[in-house]
Amino acid sequence: MVSEKIINLVNEQITKEQYAAQLYLSMSAWFYAQDLEGIGNYFRVQSKEELMHADKMFDYVNDVGGKIILNEVPKPPHEFDNAQEIFEKALDHERLVTKSIFNIVKTANEEGDFSTTSFLQWFINEQVEEESSASTLVSKIKMVKDNPSALYLFDQELAQRVFVPAAGN
Ligand SMILES: [Fe+2]
Ligand SMILES: [Fe+2]
Repeated sequence: MVSEKIINLVNEQITKEQYAAQLYLSMSAWFYAQDLEGIGNYFRVQSKEELMHADKMFDYVNDVGGKIILNEVPKPPHEFDNAQEIFEKALDHERLVTKSIFNIVKTANEEGDFSTTSFLQWFINEQVEEESSASTLVSKIKMVKDNPSALYLFDQELAQRVFVPAAGN
């Protein structure tokens, strides 16, 4: 039995994941416009992952008999000053999402809602990974700073990322 309150929080989280997808796609577009297609690719894959997160939550709400309510997805920013700013914003955003997921888990714990805490365990682990990779990329882009050949190699590295749908999804 999952409460209305939890269903609302998960519905809101669906929108947050969709917003993350929009944000990363917008960041991806910025890099493509700079001819940094590897980094553009990285954010594009990241965007697809966020849509997959929204999808998992969509299924969960449906599985527990809740009503899926889709909200308006806010418009993402399109203007960025430089690559470092983007990586820092991406890290900030992941931290925000982690907080938001923790808040649902906290509420689910208070309600003794074990199905939601169990469902969200995957997301808690995922956020550890997301924050870790976002933080590594912030460090790397700082190393690259104003060095065109380092930026070229960094771009090549991020070109390797491919979208892999999560198992059991
Ligand atoms: Fe996500
Ligand atoms: Fe994420």
